[in-house]
Amino acid sequence: MDVEDRIMASTYSKIPIVAVRGRGAKIWGIDGREYVDCMGGYGVALVGHCHPRIVEAIRKQSEKLIVCHGSIYNDARAEFLEKLISIAPNGLDKVFLSNSGAEAVEAALKIARKYTGRKVFVSMMGGYHGKTMGALSITWREDYRRPFEPLVGEVRFAPYGDIDKLKRLATGDIAAIIVEPVQGESGVRIPPDGYLKEVRELCDEKDILLIFDEVQCGLGRTGKMWASQHWGVTPDILCVAKGLASGIPIGATIAPREVMDKLSVGEHTSTFGGNPIACAAGSATIDVLLAEKLPDRAWEYGCIFKRMLEDRLSKYKVVREVRGLGLMIAFDLRLPVVKDIVLGAAEDGLLILYSGRATIRLLPPLVIGREEIEFAVSILEKLIASEEEKLKAKMQAS
Ligand SMILES: Cc1ncc(COP(=O)(O)O)c(C=O)c1O
Repeated sequence: MDVEDRIMASTYSKIPIVAVRGRGAKIWGIDGREYVDCMGGYGVALVGHCHPRIVEAIRKQSEKLIVCHGSIYNDARAEFLEKLISIAPNGLDKVFLSNSGAEAVEAALKIARKYTGRKVFVSMMGGYHGKTMGALSITWREDYRRPFEPLVGEVRFAPYGDIDKLKRLATGDIAAIIVEPVQGESGVRIPPDGYLKEVRELCDEKDILLIFDEVQCGLGRTGKMWASQHWGVTPDILCVAKGLASGIPIGATIAPREVMDKLSVGEHTSTFGGNPIACAAGSATIDVLLAEKLPDRAWEYGCIFKRMLEDRLSKYKVVREVRGLGLMIAFDLRLPVVKDIVLGAAEDGLLILYSGRATIRLLPPLVIGREEIEFAVSILEKLIASEEEKLKAKMQAS
């Protein structure tokens, strides 16, 4: 911890745990302590930590070939590309491979400008797309953007879920509208029914490309392979990353052939994009997602988790609302105490995430079990009850 604090850029808010091992929905600290992991590496550990099939795929590939630039063909890459296309929404049949969510978004922005010949992007209030300059430009939070301006050209932000306001912003100079079908970083915001369909119709009417950023909500997290399937809407460009290779860095931008083919040789490349290890891990991840029916499992266990949270937490005044779709769950607090709750949970053996200062977010592996969910809810209830006591004492004192 001392070495990281001294040498690693201080851009992360740290939890004082040294994780050394993981399995399924649990990780272990260097002191042997066990944690139920509802943070999941920020939503990456979809198939669980160190799933044997992923470990084996990485091991096997690492004995064969570890690096292969995109200018040379590779068997692991071809196998992965076919698998990825087989689970992608219909009509999205060509892929640019990169190494992170932000890069998947960068590629989408470049493809959209090249294909449409237009420059302006519309993004959503509350949207999060990463922190590289392009992805940052379409990310909503001003405190993330402001210190690094000027960013990428003109970006307009629309209120998430308000189709009338979006229509007013969608003028003829828009290259693409970019949407998270369920917003993650802003605290699991689910769009009103019918909204994404109306966005799709607006894009069709105005020849605007529709980009779905499913970096956080995709790959089964919400109970369907793609969150947008809950509303039967298909984008023109899909951004995927996080759990796609179960923790090996990867990003994928998927689009129809005629859209992707607007990029010509040299216009967008990546030294590590399509790396054989990432591709082997990606193939194994897709195999596990399908074989273990993890999207269905996320739905079933997500309903259990959400219901248990509602039953046990809604009686507390400090809890405002529990939201969720599959295993993408959050609850809002009336007080800005998330830091205390995150650190308190870690002390009690539970890892959780937050959004802003008053929302707790849970992105557990899709293999989380009932006992682990019960444990997580009991720790959360204990911490919330203690916040409630503090609040009562404060009110009595005033
Ligand atoms: C929806 C969404 N898009 C993009 C990103 C950026 O991904 P990365 O951190 O891998 O660059 C994230 C990361 O949390 C995300 O949630």
